[in-house]
Amino acid sequence: MNAQAIDRLTSWPRVRLAALPTRLTPAANLARQLAAASGAAGPEIVVKMDAETGFGLGGNKVRKLETFLAPPRLEGVTHLITTGGPQSNHCRVTAAAAAYLGLGCTLVVNGAVVGEPRGNALIHRLFGARIRTVGDRSERTPAMEEEARQVARAGGKALVVPLGASTGLGALGYAMAALELQLQLGQLPGRSRTWIFVSASSCGTLAGLLLGLSMLGREDVRLVGVSADVTAGDMRSDTLRLAGDGAKMLDFKGPLIEEALETDDSEVGDGYGIPTAASGEAIELFGKLEGIVLDPVYTGKAAAGMLAHIRSGAVDPRDRVVFIHTGGHPALLA
Ligand SMILES: Cc1ncc(COP(=O)(O)O)c(C=O)c1O
Repeated sequence: MNAQAIDRLTSWPRVRLAALPTRLTPAANLARQLAAASGAAGPEIVVKMDAETGFGLGGNKVRKLETFLAPPRLEGVTHLITTGGPQSNHCRVTAAAAAYLGLGCTLVVNGAVVGEPRGNALIHRLFGARIRTVGDRSERTPAMEEEARQVARAGGKALVVPLGASTGLGALGYAMAALELQLQLGQLPGRSRTWIFVSASSCGTLAGLLLGLSMLGREDVRLVGVSADVTAGDMRSDTLRLAGDGAKMLDFKGPLIEEALETDDSEVGDGYGIPTAASGEAIELFGKLEGIVLDPVYTGKAAAGMLAHIRSGAVDPRDRVVFIHTGGHPALLA
């Protein structure tokens, strides 16, 4: 535990956007069903409802933007520019933040919307964002830079928010979430080990959790990032890099609890946003047994990873499993 670095984190500037703390709620029916199906006792399952951060329909991006957009970052800024796919949750929350903060917003979206915009694509427009469509992911950064130059030529100042707000600064929002979770877990009866499952793509969420848990000295935890698209190797290196960047900002000398981190790319299937049988089953189980809406791109696959770990026996029945619900449910209505 590094008290000084934790103090720096808790007093770090942030723009208040999220409704915090988010609920930590038991998924007792799901746990019971899994145990019954295996014919043996199973672990406890709890869900950290970051789908309910509230702002702009919630999800994990709200916490990252709270630190990424914090003062003095926005001094003189007139526009936010960011990027993502047509159903991007990050674009949705960034557009909401721009509207709330009285700023213009341009979203560089890779991939055209076919037919009437629905789900997040509809909400991007509802929040007043200007949409610039590009052909593929490689065109995103140059297009954002060009948009920023256009804003400057018109006398304004743009802040480019990188994909997913996944920088060391954005990750600090999730290091704070780790402290919030620690307090909530401290109120529950002890279990032998805590597992944390979370969806990962641009890895800022996973990196922030790793950093926060490292600052708390929680090497006993098993932190599992389940990929929506990236390889396990890239996930590990991106996560360690971003957590390291965040650690530098806090002057946290470490160590990062690298051995506690597991990166799992076995649920990606045919690729980003393409449902799998396992993600479909996970969405159905969470819906029917817990009244919780998962999404097909991120949380459905992360929950499938959690179920696979429990069913394989990797998780001991005496353990507690925390599923971080990172949101994304508007994409279900696309
Ligand atoms: C709903 C949802 N869950 C998880 C993630 C993954 O988070 P990160 O990009 O920080 O790895 C994202 C963002 O891409 C998301 O929108």
